[in-house]
Amino acid sequence: MTAPTKPSAKPARPFFSSGPCAKPPGYSPEKLATESLGRSHRAKIGKSRLSYSIDLMREVLRLPDTHRIGIVPGSDTGAFEMAMWTMLGARPVTTMAWESFGEGWVTDAVKQLKIDPTVIRADYGQLPDLGQVDWSNDVLFTWNGTTSGVRVPNADWIAADREGLSFADATSAVFAYDIDWAKIDVATFSWQKVLGGEGGHGVIILGPRAVERLESYTPAWPLPKVFRLVSKGKLAEGVFKGETINTPSMLAVEDAIFALEWAKGLGGLEGLKARSDANAAALDKIVAERDWLGHLAADPASRSKTSVCLTVDGADADFIKQFAALLEKEGAAFDVAGYRDAPPGLRIWCGATVETADIEALGPWLDWAYSTAKAA
Ligand SMILES: Cc1ncc(COP(=O)(O)O)c(C=O)c1O
Repeated sequence: MTAPTKPSAKPARPFFSSGPCAKPPGYSPEKLATESLGRSHRAKIGKSRLSYSIDLMREVLRLPDTHRIGIVPGSDTGAFEMAMWTMLGARPVTTMAWESFGEGWVTDAVKQLKIDPTVIRADYGQLPDLGQVDWSNDVLFTWNGTTSGVRVPNADWIAADREGLSFADATSAVFAYDIDWAKIDVATFSWQKVLGGEGGHGVIILGPRAVERLESYTPAWPLPKVFRLVSKGKLAEGVFKGETINTPSMLAVEDAIFALEWAKGLGGLEGLKARSDANAAALDKIVAERDWLGHLAADPASRSKTSVCLTVDGADADFIKQFAALLEKEGAAFDVAGYRDAPPGLRIWCGATVETADIEALGPWLDWAYSTAKAA
C-alpha cells in the first residue's frame, strides 16, 4: 500500500481546541493594554477596566437591563457551582444531562448538595424530550454540550410562567447563538470559549428572579467566601460593577477586553454568529463528502455550531489518539480528539475565533490522518 500523500497547504492557524479556544484573529499579547497591571484591582484604573469589560459583554451579548453580569472566580465551573450552592434547595430541582459537563452538575446536586433532584438524561448525540420538564422545579441544563456537540435548539421549551428558576451552563453557547434572556434566570460562561479568552474567571448572569431568590433564601449548607453574593440579606451589587469578590487576573481581563473589542468590531453578536455558522457549514460540507465521517449529534436542529463532534468509522480510542497525534506532529491541527468521556471521535471547534478557510484546509488533512492511521 502506498503512503497517503500529505496535503500541500496547512490551516494557517491550526487551533481547533474546544477550550481554551483559538485566540481572535490578529491577537498578540503585545496588543493588550497593560496600564491596569501591577496596580490594585480596586484602584480607579482596575475598577474602570473591570466595569468596561462588563459593559462590553452586555453590549455584545445584547443583554437586557433586567439582567446583571458579574465576574467571579473559578472559570465556568466556579460560576455555575456558585449559582448551585447559593440558590438551590429552596424548591424541587431537575437536572438535565446529555454529556459530561451536565453529568457533572448532576453529581454536584446528588452527591454534594444531596438535594435528591429529578434527573433527565440522554445519551451522547441525543437530547432528552425537553417537553417533559416540570417548571415548578428549578431546572439545570447545559445550553451547548461541549463534549457531545448537542445543544438546545432555542429557549421555546422554557416556560414563560415558570415557578422554578432556569439555570443555563451556557459556556460554549454565548456569543454563538441567540439567547432569549427573558427565559433565563441564571447563565454562566467563561471567556475561554467563543471569545478565545482565558480561563480562570467565570461570568455569572442573573435575572431578577435569581436576585429575588438570593435575597430571600439562605441555603442549609455553608458557603465559602468565593461563592457569597449576598451581604446582610442584600445582593452584593458591587460584584456586578466590577468590584470582584477577590483578586482577579487583570491580565485575563485585558485579554477578554481585546476579544470583546474584536467582537464589537465584527458587528457584535451577529458578526460572531455569522462566523461560527460559516465554520460549522464548512465542516458539515467536509463531513457530507466523506462516508467515514459522521455527526455524533443526530438531529441537525440541535447540532452544535461551536463544539462539533464527529464520528469516525471503525475508530476506537487508540485510533483517535493516533489520528490526533499525527495532525499535531504536522502542525496541521491541534486538539481535535473528542473529550475523554465521550464516544471515540473527533471534536472540532467552530466558534467565531476560528477562520473558515482553516476549517476548509482541514478536510484534506483529515483524509491524510485517517488513511495514515489506518495503514499503520
Ligand atoms: C459545558 C461546559 N461546562 C463547564 C465547563 C468547564 O469550564 P471551565 O473549565 O471554564 O470551568 C466546560 C469546559 O469545557 C464546558 O464545556
